[in-house]
This record gives sequence, structure tokens and C-alpha cells, in this order.
Amino acid sequence: MKQNSLKEAVSWAAINFIQPNTIVGIGTGSTIDYFINALVSIKHQIKGVVSSSEKSTNKLKKLGIKIIDLNEINFLPIYIDSADEIDSQLCMIKGGGAALTHEKIIASVADKFICIVDVSKKVNVLGRFPLPIEVIPMARNFIIRELEKIGGIPKYRQDVTTENGNIILDIHNLHILDPISLEKHINSIPGVVTVGLFASRKADIVLISTSKGIEIIKE
Ligand code: A5P
Repeated sequence: MKQNSLKEAVSWAAINFIQPNTIVGIGTGSTIDYFINALVSIKHQIKGVVSSSEKSTNKLKKLGIKIIDLNEINFLPIYIDSADEIDSQLCMIKGGGAALTHEKIIASVADKFICIVDVSKKVNVLGRFPLPIEVIPMARNFIIRELEKIGGIPKYRQDVTTENGNIILDIHNLHILDPISLEKHINSIPGVVTVGLFASRKADIVLISTSKGIEIIKE
């Protein structure tokens, strides 16, 4: 099966996890684009969506799905998003689409995080996909030096400004054996806004799309 068909299949499978009359948090990316298409089928059964990016918001609005501001609610039952990599402990690398900060905020509010991926995203050890970090622009070279101390090779993502007006560094050459510690360490560097390691707030359930069907792994 082609990767896009796997993304579409897992998106439809995720629809079964949404309860009627609730608000759904959603991420950003090509998998989530398929998920939004599937969400249209139940748009009259949900209260609306908290979106993590302008890209997702624009698509949702075009399809007539109501957008809800995160500050207007105090409970979010479910967040559905994809990942760039996910390990067997359900820790993830995210941020390939530069929306990591909004994604991490919504994921932290949500009661349940459901990660939907095609099988290519499953890894034994996180780090082959360069780890994205959102950074305050003036701290760029300082943070690059700090990341080099831990063996990373940070690369400035040219021509990308996040929705918060910041830049993205992608850290190559990492072999992440302790995602929780690395997340804490990178978060502690002044100027780091968000690291795209989702380990303290990992997924609760992952749906993995394979050519044989959807594999479901729960925490
Ligand atoms: C967006 O910032 C990312 O976290 C995406 O969720 C992640 O990159 C997965 O995207 P794709 O579905 O396009 O692979």
C-alpha cells in the first residue's frame, strides 16, 4: 500500500475514537489533512475543533468545521495528531511542519492524545528524524553551541518563521535513549521555546497503519 493510502486509512480509523457532542483537538501535517477530510463525515456530531496551526484552521474552515479557541474551554477530551517518529514507549518526535509549540500546548491540555501514523514512523530509537526546536531568533547561535555540547548537529531551517515569530533548528545526529531527560535538558536552555520531543506528554494510544491493517497500541 502506498504511504498516502496508509495515512488515509488510519485517519478514518481515528474517527471511531471521537465521542459525539465533544470538542476535538487536532494537529498539523499531511496525515492530519486526511484526518480533516474524514472528520467532515461527523462534523454535525461534534461541537468543534481546537486547531494547532493556520494550515489546519484554513482547511477546517473551508470544510465548514467550527474552530474553537483553546482559551474558551477548560476541558479537551481528545487530541489527534501524527508524528515524525514514534517509539515503543509512545514517545515522539514532532515538528516537521513547524507547528510543534501549538501542538504541545493542545496535547498538554487534552485528556487523551491519539497519535495516528503510517508504519514508516515507527522506530526503535528516536533521532533519525532531525529533532526540531522552536527558538527565539536572538538565541540561535547560543543554542546551537549548547546543542553541539551534547553531540547534536543543529541546522537552521532556512526561510521558516513559526506562527509565534520564531525560528526552527533541526538537530541531526541524535540517538535518543532517554527522551524524558533530553526533553527536560533542551527545555532548560534559555531561548528554547519548545523542543519537538513529546516524552513527558507522550501519546496515550497510537494507531499504526500497515498494509495488513491498523495496529492499536495503548499505554
Ligand atoms: C507538525 O509540526 C508535525 O508535528 C507533524 O505532526 C508531523 O510532522 C507529521 O506530519 P506528516 O503527517 O506530514 O508526516
